[in-house]
This record gives sequence, structure tokens and C-alpha cells, in this order.
Amino acid sequence: MENIKRYIDQHKERFINELIALLKIPSVSADPAYAQDVLDTATAVEKSLLVAGCDSVEVCETEGYPIVYGAKIIHPNLPTVLVYGHYDVQPPDPMDLWDSPPFEPQIKSTPTHPEGAIFARGACDDKGQMYMHVKAFEFMVKQNQLPCNVKFMIEGEEEVGSENLAVFVAEHKERLNCDVILISDTGMIAQDTPSITTGLRGLSYVEVTVTGPNRDLHSGLYGGAVANPINILSKMIASLHDENNHITIPGFYDKVEELSAAERAEMAKAPFNLEAYESALDIASVYGEKGYTTNERNSIRPTLDVNGIWGGYTGEGAKTVIASKAHAKISMRLVPHQDWHEITELFKAHFERLAPSGVTVAVTPHHGGQGYVTPIDSIGYRAASKAYETTFGKTPIPQRSGGSIPIVSLFEKELKSKTILMGFGLDSDAIHSPNEHFGVWNYLKGIETIPHFYKYFTELSK
Ligand code: BES
Ligand code: MN
Ligand code: MN
Repeated sequence: MENIKRYIDQHKERFINELIALLKIPSVSADPAYAQDVLDTATAVEKSLLVAGCDSVEVCETEGYPIVYGAKIIHPNLPTVLVYGHYDVQPPDPMDLWDSPPFEPQIKSTPTHPEGAIFARGACDDKGQMYMHVKAFEFMVKQNQLPCNVKFMIEGEEEVGSENLAVFVAEHKERLNCDVILISDTGMIAQDTPSITTGLRGLSYVEVTVTGPNRDLHSGLYGGAVANPINILSKMIASLHDENNHITIPGFYDKVEELSAAERAEMAKAPFNLEAYESALDIASVYGEKGYTTNERNSIRPTLDVNGIWGGYTGEGAKTVIASKAHAKISMRLVPHQDWHEITELFKAHFERLAPSGVTVAVTPHHGGQGYVTPIDSIGYRAASKAYETTFGKTPIPQRSGGSIPIVSLFEKELKSKTILMGFGLDSDAIHSPNEHFGVWNYLKGIETIPHFYKYFTELSK
């Protein structure tokens, strides 16, 4: 693997330009207006896998957007790495908060990324991180250094819940058979502090509607005499947390895993600067569940958050009105052992009970998934750890993340393989936000580190 650095040096301009071309296609899976672009992105990924050296690549149709599947099997007795990633991206809005257009990638330097970062929707989540794997694979094939078999499964519906991928995985267990699943769709602690993600939170996402009178009413003629659905919804939502910021849904914490004092002490060793965290967000202070640190609140503890709330008059000026309906979208981040179907049911039953007479409540579940936690003594983890040691000169820190990739727990259940999450993004890369970016240094460091994982994984599997 000595020449990986030289290979990157010789080809980095092309690596960056290829990623920029991919980022120009607006593959927003949530918005049907971009349907053709999402399909075009699948085709672009297919081509890139063929050019990089896959023997076969197929764009597999689903009920939704296709899954790009490619493979290079060099010997049946060698281990097989299954790379998963997604080519779809989050919607870019609010558009006016972008400093440069989301689908016209630009390289700009920032204090965290003095050597430049690519600004575009999907730069970090996940086109940039997915494409690192394609380029690392290209290096191994072209330089005759591929030590094992590789399968790629790149989907186009991660940002909308991966429902069709779940069907695909269940139907193609044989074809997807592998020894480890490798994903770069998470982050690391800092440029000089590599980390490996050992946990992901689960998710239950619901939408609620409170309905009062059968039409919008004059707020003077009727105000005070009928339940105002927006007032009621606000009250109901406010009651979901108590004064200690514990969630009040009965049974919500029943299956939450309590970490031992030793495990929490180990977690607390990860470098974290509270002042820097607060000042990066321009907040006077953090806020959350009593009895837990910031790093615990956003990783080992479950949450409930309103993601959007609307109803009534929100236009210019004032309109005196009591709306007939009020709505909110609510996400609950879950920890391992909490079952997302069960939590959705608990939420629904509790929320319906909360409603006073005079309004009706409808709870509609959207999507969800199980959390994930993986041990640090598996072959995959040890191989990843050695790969980072080689390229960063430091042992990576295991870290549970607050984000979710619901398909990961399903991979383990269906394919019986562990997932290794080698993320190269930073929290400050603004994924899902305006001005998302991915450091050029991180992109190239990822390409450099991945081939070492393949080598160590193959060696440790013997
Ligand atoms: N790549 C993210 C998840 C992520 C980011 C995990 C950083 C850990 C660290 C993924 O694309 C994502 O956004 N997932 C969604 C869930 C999905 C069901 C929409 C999420 O976490 O909100
Ligand atoms: Mn992602
Ligand atoms: Mn995402």
C-alpha cells in the first residue's frame, strides 16, 4: 500500500473533478421534481463503478429509485467487503441561506479546512464519502493491490427511509453475502482526532394533526369559546418533556440501556470542548436531559424533537383567525434495544389520550428504524483501527453517534454481518444544512485510509 499516497498525488485533481461532476446532479430523493436527476445519478454511479474496475454492475430497479450494485470477485476463498453508500441527497432549501448555489460546487477554504472544502449539497452526505470508496477501489484494482472481494451497494433512498432497500436486502441475501459491511456516512471527532462510529440511534418519525372546528373561525367572535387547535397542539407538545427534560410518554424508557459508570467514564475521555461547541452554534448554553453530559445527550440517550410545526395564518401582516387544524412533524431518536414500532405505538396512544374533548387527534407514522451498536473487538473494527493508525498516526477513538442509518441494523439481522462505520466528515460540515461542505483533505485522507482497511481485514481474517 506504499504507493497509495503517490497515486492520490498524481490523480487528486481528477478525483476532485469527478466528485464535482457527481455533485452537480441534484439527486433529491424527497422531491419528485428531481426524479430524472436521481435516475441520472444512478447511471453516473454505475459508470464510475465500471470504470473503477468492477466486473459487473447492475442498476437494480425497485418500487422507488434504483440500487446500483457492482462487484469484483477475485477468489471465492477470500473475504468479501460489502460497501454501502447513498447517492441521494437532502433537499437544498432554504436556498437563500446558501453562499453559493447547492448544485454548483465550489472549493472554498474555511478555518477548519484551510486546504479547501467542496461546498455543495451531498458533498459530505453522502456523495463525497461514498465516492472515496470508488476511488480507493480504483487504486487497488489499477495497482494490483486488491486483497479480497468487493461488492458495492449504493442506494438512492437513504434520505427518505430506505424502504425499498430493505426489500432488496431481504430478497438478495445470497448475492449480498459478505464478511463485513463498510460504510462512510458518519463523521469523526476532529481533523487530528480520528474516530470510528460504534453506534447509531434509531428513529421513529411521526406527523400529528389536531382538528378543532370544521372551518377557520373569526378569533374575536369565537375566541375563548372553542378549543384553538394550535394552542392545544402547543400544550400537548410542551407536556411531552418534564422539568428535567425527561420524556413523559409512559413506557418510553423501559428498554433504554443504562450504561455502566465505567462505560460512561470511558466515553467522557473523548476530547470535547463545551465552550467551543456553544460558540460554534452561537448559543449561551447547551440544553437537555438532566443528569447527562452533552456527549451523552446526543448519543446514548433517546430524544423527542419537533421538526416542523404549522397551522393558521403565517403570511404577511396579521389575520385574526382560529385555524381549524394544527400540524407538527416529530422525530424520536432511539437507542439500541428500544423498538421503533413499539415506541411509535406508545407515542400514538399517549398523544391521543392527551387531547381534550373539543379536538380530535390523528397520528400518522412516517418511517423509522432500529439503533445499532457494534463491539470494538471484531476483526472489522480492529482492521479499521489499524488503518487509521497507519494514515493518521493515531489510534481512533470509538464513538457512538446521534445520527441514524436505519438500514444498518437490518444488515446485521438479514446478512449476519457486522458494519464498520468509517466516517471522514466533521460535525461542522453542515450536512442537511445550507452550505454543506466536505474538506478536500478529508476526501483524500479517506481514499488513502480505505485500502489499508482492506489489507488488514484480509490479513486478520486468515
Ligand atoms: N449520513 C446520515 C446519518 C449520520 C450522519 C449518522 C452523521 C451519523 C453521523 C444519513 O444520511 C441521515 O441523514 N440519516 C437520517 C435518517 C434517515 C431515515 C432520514 C437522519 O439521521 O436523520
Ligand atoms: Mn448519509
Ligand atoms: Mn443524511
